[in-house]
Amino acid sequence: MPEFQAPVGTRDVLPPESARWERLIGLFAGRVGRAGYGLVVSPMFEDVGVFERVGEATDVVRKEMYDFEDKGGRHLALRPEGTASVVRAWVQHRPTLPFKAWYAAPSFRYERPQAGRYRQHHQLGVEVLGSADPDLDVEVIALGWGLYDDVGLSRVRLLLNSLGDATCRPGYLDALKTYLLEHRDKLCDEHKTRIDDNPLRVLDCKRPACVGVTERAPRMVDHLCDECAAHFDRVKSGLGELGIAYDIEPRLVRGLDYYTRTTFEFQAPALESAQNGIGGGGRYDGLAEQLGGPPTPGIGFGIGIERVLLACDAEGVFAAPTATADVFVVDVTGEAALKLVQELRNAGVAADRAFGGRSMKAQFKLADRSGAQVAVVVGPDELDRGIAKVRPLRGTGEEEEEVKLEELVDHVKKRLGTP
Ligand code: HAM
Repeated sequence: MPEFQAPVGTRDVLPPESARWERLIGLFAGRVGRAGYGLVVSPMFEDVGVFERVGEATDVVRKEMYDFEDKGGRHLALRPEGTASVVRAWVQHRPTLPFKAWYAAPSFRYERPQAGRYRQHHQLGVEVLGSADPDLDVEVIALGWGLYDDVGLSRVRLLLNSLGDATCRPGYLDALKTYLLEHRDKLCDEHKTRIDDNPLRVLDCKRPACVGVTERAPRMVDHLCDECAAHFDRVKSGLGELGIAYDIEPRLVRGLDYYTRTTFEFQAPALESAQNGIGGGGRYDGLAEQLGGPPTPGIGFGIGIERVLLACDAEGVFAAPTATADVFVVDVTGEAALKLVQELRNAGVAADRAFGGRSMKAQFKLADRSGAQVAVVVGPDELDRGIAKVRPLRGTGEEEEEVKLEELVDHVKKRLGTP
């Protein structure tokens, strides 16, 4: 075993697997680009306060954060999630509203590594600031839903909930606290002592002891104020108009503290239940203010790239595309390949070659493996005559042709149908 390995909980993504990443990110960029979202690239680390502000009562912040002091004595943290950074950036620069952002970025959480749970994972996400319109909630959910459709996943479940707002949530929390205190003895050890901290966290606990209690706990959806109830109704009817099926999940509180009103999660039933969350998000109408900005509503989601690809494997869809060249230049003179591949590539043709002065036979073997449609063959005789032979490699029934070197690029493009 080599001396150095990728750190525990991290993975190297190499070809051909990385080709799926490229395609997935490309599909996402296309989909959100068509909806008017712009790419935001923010630092991988922030002042630790940015994240503390958004999740002091959560495991993500309390237990899992990679925080450290830099050489200048600043207390920083690697980003555990993308929302806080984007909202911090908006508060700092104040671009015009509505601000529609997307990102594809790593996040870091010191979790117990297992399949689908990593210490560095990667999220595709969107965040929108500046509108409280429930139609925006529907748009955002539909963007995530559309990506799963793009990759061919057919068994994604959408779970939906509302967490209310500053008007109705305090009353609900009181009712929930009272109920949980009545059943304290039956809760798991961790949550016996955390009811006062944030009772919503108990709803998020998946241990059987807590689940047994929370099954019959008061539900936020039954305590919504009129405005939150109307908002939630419009989200539900909008999803219905778009044909997006959902299940109401009254205990869906998500693992971060900033959520208000609509929260949602995408699950892949094909995966183990501990890691079947392939995306999630919601509204965070108070977050900009918490980070020092003016009151500004917001909503977004994060989709775990690794988990989406695991779900694709489980459903047998979205296979890794094989990287193939269109043309392989077989050159035994050592004088033609350098220039020919450059010209072909500049003209938009995927061209490859061998290195190291290999024999014609060895080069043809590589040409075959490259997946190229045609080989461009140059030997001493061809070089003398200023031509190359264009030989089909895939048994398409076409003939070998002799082509003048100066006409080669146009000839190959026509033959391959390259625009
Ligand atoms: P989150 O649910 O914590 O939400 O993470 C979003 C997604 O990232 C999860 O659904 C999952 O697919 C993936 N994920 C999370 N942790 C791991 C891990 N350790 N290993 C592999 N994948 C993981 C957020 O982070 C929010 N910022 C989402 C959001 C955006 N809400 C509003 N805007």
